[in-house]
Amino acid sequence: MKIINPQTLGEFIIEKQSEFQYSSGELSRLLSAIKLASKVVNQEVNKAGLVDIIGAMGNKNVQGEEQQKLDVFANEVFIAALNNREVVCGIASEENKDFIEVKAGKNANESKYVVLIDPLDGSSNIDVNVNVGTIFSIYRRVTSEGTPVELKDFLQPGNKQVAAGYVVYGSSTMIVYTTGYGVNGFTLDPALGVYYLSHPDIKIPEKGNIYSINEGNYIKFPLGIKKYIKYCQEEEGERPYTSRYIGSLVADFHRNMLKGGIYLYPSYSHAPKGKLRLLYECNPMAFLAEQAGGSASDGFTRILDLNPIELHQRSPFICGSKEMVIKVEEFMKNA
Ligand code: AHG
Ligand code: MN
Ligand code: MN
Ligand code: MN
Repeated sequence: MKIINPQTLGEFIIEKQSEFQYSSGELSRLLSAIKLASKVVNQEVNKAGLVDIIGAMGNKNVQGEEQQKLDVFANEVFIAALNNREVVCGIASEENKDFIEVKAGKNANESKYVVLIDPLDGSSNIDVNVNVGTIFSIYRRVTSEGTPVELKDFLQPGNKQVAAGYVVYGSSTMIVYTTGYGVNGFTLDPALGVYYLSHPDIKIPEKGNIYSINEGNYIKFPLGIKKYIKYCQEEEGERPYTSRYIGSLVADFHRNMLKGGIYLYPSYSHAPKGKLRLLYECNPMAFLAEQAGGSASDGFTRILDLNPIELHQRSPFICGSKEMVIKVEEFMKNA
């Protein structure tokens, strides 16, 4: 598709502000803060092979994973961008045990939004020059404005998200987001430091022929998933499907959204909730998938209808082309 006079992300955010239910410019400022932070992280990701920021710091984060230096850096950059500009009243991050209350000066913050972020997704891929990303999810707080944020402001079902998106630091860096009116993608011109609208109104093909799963764990999967994998590999009609797994959710999701396909991170025998985090990974991706005409499920229930009970809760995650997700649910139900 040839786009004449491409719009910048900044112009787009302002233009779309009026579409937004609670339009006061607050959400626009918040998205602008994310845009800015993503450019800073992009610079550092691009240099990852050059500078001494690479490699494990030797710390473990709240998820029990070894934190990579860029994880820490990205976490700090996003938190600082959101904090300093006072565009949110609270932040929760995959990398922090507890949520952060953002205060404006000495007073309680007046902002009505909270943000949940996975500052660097796919961090195990940093050392090998493979795509990583950032995922964000935005809610309107449920407690009164001007009071300190509470845990319940963050523990909302995904269907209450007002915006969500991701940045993929790839061969090109892109930001893809939704405010509940479809999904749009913007590509960074690195020379100008400007994101341009490159993928307007993204739609996931209803059917696809790519399946993405860490098949090395096959033996640990539930029977329904094992059967679905076999189904993908059968020679019949459009099948066998193509297998593609990068190991960065953002990159795997992004490819499947553009080409059609399904991403699966199911439960394991020893991890009944799987690995991915409901609030930082599953919910924002599910919102994007649905806004693009796709679907997201934990195998039985719509992801966006799950009621979170803790910040770092995990969930099985099956997401992508609608018909493919329905098929997995059939296998799960009948297993
Ligand atoms: P993060 O780097 O934010 O901790 O997320 C890693 C996630 C996700 O990006 C990816 O899809 C998945 O872990 C890969 O897990 P496996 O290595 O178990 O397949
Ligand atoms: Mn992690
Ligand atoms: Mn992640
Ligand atoms: Mn992460």
